[in-house]
Amino acid sequence: MEFERALAEVESTFEQRLAAASRDAEVEELRIAYLGRSGELTLMRRGIGKLPAGERPAAGQRINAVADRMELRLASALETLRAHGLEQALHERVDATFPAQARHGSIHPIRRTLEDICNFFERRGYGVVVGPEVETEYHNFDALNIPPDHPAREGFDSFYLPGGLLLRTHTSPMQVRTMQAHQPPLAIVTPGRCYRRDALDARHSFAFHQVEGLVVAEGITMAHLKGTMEAMCRALFGPAQRVRFRPSYFPFTEPSAEVDTTCPGCRGLGCRTCSGSGWLEIGGSGMVHPNVFREVGYDPERVTGWAFGLGPERIAMVRHGIDDIRTFVENEPAFLEQF
Ligand code: DAH
Repeated sequence: MEFERALAEVESTFEQRLAAASRDAEVEELRIAYLGRSGELTLMRRGIGKLPAGERPAAGQRINAVADRMELRLASALETLRAHGLEQALHERVDATFPAQARHGSIHPIRRTLEDICNFFERRGYGVVVGPEVETEYHNFDALNIPPDHPAREGFDSFYLPGGLLLRTHTSPMQVRTMQAHQPPLAIVTPGRCYRRDALDARHSFAFHQVEGLVVAEGITMAHLKGTMEAMCRALFGPAQRVRFRPSYFPFTEPSAEVDTTCPGCRGLGCRTCSGSGWLEIGGSGMVHPNVFREVGYDPERVTGWAFGLGPERIAMVRHGIDDIRTFVENEPAFLEQF
């Protein structure tokens, strides 16, 4: 009977300890402590040999019965703990009553304008490509029909780097890179940052963005360019928007044109933003110069094309009524939080 009491004692301490276990690991420890190789029940089994021979089979059966119950109790304890843990985790993750975090940050007006321009063209099947900000003089100038002695080279006031490199002064070198890598027909836009040694004021910055566009195929005309610019301006500023071309000069286009659009501030009537003219300049454009085609191995007798370079800072200033380009990079929270 001493054996019976000892066994009952072992089982009841097991129950107490199991009730106190609050983690999986504690349940596993109990399994080892009772059913493991040197666990309590195993020790009791070894003790059977000391009992009178007639009691041994019944004692063995009772130990086995206790062991079976312990197994079941351990398994169900684990199950309960897991269900409880899962429930807790679910509650922690989707507590809809928890106060929301204040939202910090918004899309910068320049990025938004870049994305709007690129999306307009992407929806019309143009590829969007990006290129290096550290460029070779060859791609930035020579291949664009701007030889070393060309006065336009001075006009760019470039940041030069050792080894024939510079910070690109415009996104036009991507025209060259794209045409050298692909055969016509092609239609791409390429947004990116550009750099010029300009003094900083309300309208000029030494670091700014451009979005370059290029379309080359057989039979492409300047009328396509103007229609495209008009559709883009209507998408960006509104359906009443008009576009006018002013004759201009760029070494890599002939003919060349400045692109103006109706001043959205005054709807073309004349205001401070447009200095009373009713028009705002948003970029340069033109028909790709035959020399540029020859440089990239295209046949100017077979294909024609146009290109443009837009100033997103300018466009964003007009869209949002911003009068100083420096506000885009000063990162004043009061300015940024308006967008
Ligand atoms: N790259 C010129 C600039 O930075 C802008 C430009 C003019 C780009 C005419 C063009 C173009 O693609 O055809 O001033």
